[in-house]
Amino acid sequence: MNDEKRRILIVEDDLGLRTQLKWALAEFEVLVAEDGPKALQLFERKRPPVVILDLGLPPDPNGASEGLATLEVLLKMAPLTKVIVASGNEERVNALKAVGLGAYDFYPKPADPDVMRLIIKRALTLHDLEEENEQLVLGRTSSLAGLVASSPKMLSLCRTAERVATANIAVLITGESGTGKEILARSVHDLSARAAQGFVAINCAAIPENLLESELFGHEKGAFTGAVKQTIGKVEQAHLGTLFLDEIGDMPLSLQAKLLRFLQSRTIERIGGRKEIEVDVRVLSATNRDLAAMMREGSFREDLFYRLNEVAMHIPPLRDRPGDAILLARYFRAKYSKDFQRAPKTFTADALAALAGHSWPGNVRELENRVKRAMLMADGKGIAAGDLDLDPPGDGDTSLMPTLRQIRAQAETEAVTRALAITDNNVSDASQLLGVSRPTLYEIMHAANLHIKRRDRS
Ligand SMILES: Nc1ncnc2c1ncn2[C@@H]1O[C@H](COP(=O)(O)OP(=O)(O)OP(=O)(O)O)[C@@H](O)[C@H]1O
Ligand SMILES: [Mg+2]
Repeated sequence: MNDEKRRILIVEDDLGLRTQLKWALAEFEVLVAEDGPKALQLFERKRPPVVILDLGLPPDPNGASEGLATLEVLLKMAPLTKVIVASGNEERVNALKAVGLGAYDFYPKPADPDVMRLIIKRALTLHDLEEENEQLVLGRTSSLAGLVASSPKMLSLCRTAERVATANIAVLITGESGTGKEILARSVHDLSARAAQGFVAINCAAIPENLLESELFGHEKGAFTGAVKQTIGKVEQAHLGTLFLDEIGDMPLSLQAKLLRFLQSRTIERIGGRKEIEVDVRVLSATNRDLAAMMREGSFREDLFYRLNEVAMHIPPLRDRPGDAILLARYFRAKYSKDFQRAPKTFTADALAALAGHSWPGNVRELENRVKRAMLMADGKGIAAGDLDLDPPGDGDTSLMPTLRQIRAQAETEAVTRALAITDNNVSDASQLLGVSRPTLYEIMHAANLHIKRRDRS
């Protein structure tokens, strides 16, 4: 670490103690505050990663109400802050209460400076790790903003998305419900030259057949009963931007024909209108239905399929994306701890095992909902399998608590897999990316039983 002093904040109403602590902890940059409001003000400006908080603050110096209230606000402002509460002997209950609210640790008064220094250093280390992890998780979005992925299949899909984004071709995205079809479509749009223009989505399943045509192509005033004013359809709204036809498999045959006509002519006519209007849109579509089967049975037009499917992108179900469930769970945890302003909670070992073992019939949407709910429901610092409403893995299975060596090996394997996916299996590039030598990389690959399938040879 560099020589810069780490910043901590001491909140203590007793002037003597305050000064004493400040001296004893001179190896840190110590900020001090004598009451809750001052502490919060200072905290807001300086964002110290560690706060030492006396629970007995005015106006309640003999109780803990003001200290606990300050703690809550503080953790809402910055959930990763490590707050160490100071408590006298009779205040143990309050100290435990504080830990329940998300305080990192407590120490009994009077403070032993050596012990305190240790606790603070440990807290700083943990804070830095968590922050790094958070950044990793939140930043693991490559150029596809908001799309979290680490499994090789998904990373390769992200690369495809980057490639097709810039070309003005139609992409058909398939995948089970909740796999992320819409978010992928948005990413393709965001990466395209049309990003500054609109992304207009229409859900073909949600609109009754008789309204869908007007919804797509618009209508003139008086075109049909109830058409009291001229309305611009989604296709026209998307002019110069991207049109996203969601649940395209649910589009009735009559409209499939009209959509095909538009795709061939690139012009529309509003219902009841007389002129043809030229529209320039990029078309993306998505479905969880089996279009091949639908074509066989005649419920989806083959000619339309080929227009929409210039490039096919299939999103695998979450159960086939090893590693993604836990990464996504951490991502949603970070997201919702910000959204709900909750102190961060860690996943317990049984939660991690349950996340990894669940089959995710509802895919990412199911996972997001479970984590979101757990963030609201779980009390205490941890999220357990039960909070996620998942069955905890079998009793007494000690193998669930992985050893550090296993964790390291797994992290290495994941990083290597990722690097190889990013570099198209180029070992030199991957070793550079990972900051290790080629022999080291080969060693890790060998240990992890990772074999390269070169695309040009397979
Ligand atoms: N890789 C991902 N990274 C981050 N969030 C994701 C990812 N995949 C999906 N999500 C989130 O999961 C939820 C479901 O995703 P989305 O709506 O894109 O799925 P879908 O395949 O269109 O589902 P459906 O078939 O039910 O319409 C959304 O809230 C989305 O933001
Ligand atoms: Mg969708």
